[in-house]
Amino acid sequence: MQAQIDQYTEEINTFSPANSDELEAFRIKFLGTKGIIKDLFEQFKTVGPEEKRTFGKVLNQFKQLAEAKYTELKELLNSEIESRTCGTNSEIDLTLPGDGFNLGSRHPLSLVRLEIIDIFKRLGFVVAEGPEIEDDWHNFSALNFPEEHPARDMQDTFFIKKNNGKDDIALRTHTSSVQVRMMENGKPPFRAIMPGRVYRNEAISARAHCFFHQVEGLYIDENVSFADLKQTLYHFVQELYGADFQVRFRPSYFPFTEPSAEMDISCTICKGAGCPMCKYTGWVEILGCGMVDPNVLENCGIDSKKYTGFAFGMGIERIANLKYVIRDLRLFSENDVRFLKQFKTEII
Ligand code: DAH
Repeated sequence: MQAQIDQYTEEINTFSPANSDELEAFRIKFLGTKGIIKDLFEQFKTVGPEEKRTFGKVLNQFKQLAEAKYTELKELLNSEIESRTCGTNSEIDLTLPGDGFNLGSRHPLSLVRLEIIDIFKRLGFVVAEGPEIEDDWHNFSALNFPEEHPARDMQDTFFIKKNNGKDDIALRTHTSSVQVRMMENGKPPFRAIMPGRVYRNEAISARAHCFFHQVEGLYIDENVSFADLKQTLYHFVQELYGADFQVRFRPSYFPFTEPSAEMDISCTICKGAGCPMCKYTGWVEILGCGMVDPNVLENCGIDSKKYTGFAFGMGIERIANLKYVIRDLRLFSENDVRFLKQFKTEII
C-alpha cells in the first residue's frame, strides 16, 4: 500500500493538465466516488490496528495532497481562461491573432489620374467635373464644330437622343465639354483641369475601347500666350516622366483651338531608339492642345479681345500605357485582380 501511495504521489506531483478536460479526468481518477482515494480508504478498513495508526496519517496526507493539487490546478486553469478571453469567460479565445485585412490596390488609371492632378495642382490648377451625358451644344457646337461639318465625324458618338443636331443628347466624346460649362458658368481667369470618362462608338480591341478617360486642361486670362502653353506642358512632362525626355510639338487641327498642336515625347520605353510601342519612330503622342479659338470664347460669353488662353486634352489610358507598358486596353476595364494587384497602393 505504501508503495502504491508513493507512486500516486509522484503522479500527482508531476501532473500538469493541458486543459480542463484533463483536470476533470484527474479529479475523477483520484477524488471521484469510485476513485483511487475512496478505494484506498476501503482497503484501509481491512488493515490491522497497528498499521492503522501509521497508514491513517499517510492516507490523510495523501488525500490532502490530491485535493490541494486539484484546487490549485483548477484556479490556475480558470485564471488562464479569464486572461485569454479578457474576462468574458466565453469560448472565444480573444488572444488568437485576427484575420488580416485584405488591402486592395488603386486602379492604375486612378494612380495616373491622381498623379496628373497633383502636378497641375502645384501650378495652381483646380479640378472641375461635368456630366457624362451631354447635349450637342456643350460637346460640339460651342466648341466650334460646325453643323454637318466633317469635324463631327472625327468622333464617333453614342447618341441617346438624335433630333436635328441642335437638340441631340449624347454620351460625351471628350472632356472638352467641361471647358464650355466652366467658361459659361464663371468669370475669367480660369485655370482648371477636368478629369473624366468619355465614350466613343468604337469596336473594342486591344487598341481601342468604347469608353476611356481623359484629362482636359484650360487656362484663360489676359495675355496668355502659346509660350505659356508650351512651358506648362514641358513642366508637366518633366514632372511625370523625369527630366531626360524630349518633347516636340506638331501642328494639328482641332475645331476648338487655333493654332492647334499635338505634343509628342521621346518614347518612354526605348528612350527614342525605336521600338514597337513608338512604331520605330522614337516618338509617342501624348496630348492635343492649342490656343482656345476666339469663337469658343465668344460662344461661352467671354470677351475674346480681352482674354486669351490655352487648352489641352490627354488620354489617361495612354499615359498609363507609357508608364506601365500595358499592351491591351481591355485590361483596364476587366477588373481582373491578377492585373490590378500589380499596382502598388500609394495614398496620394
Ligand atoms: N478633345 C480632344 C480629343 O478628345 C483633345 C483635345 C485636343 C483637347 C486639343 C483640347 C485641345 O483641349 O486643346 O481628342
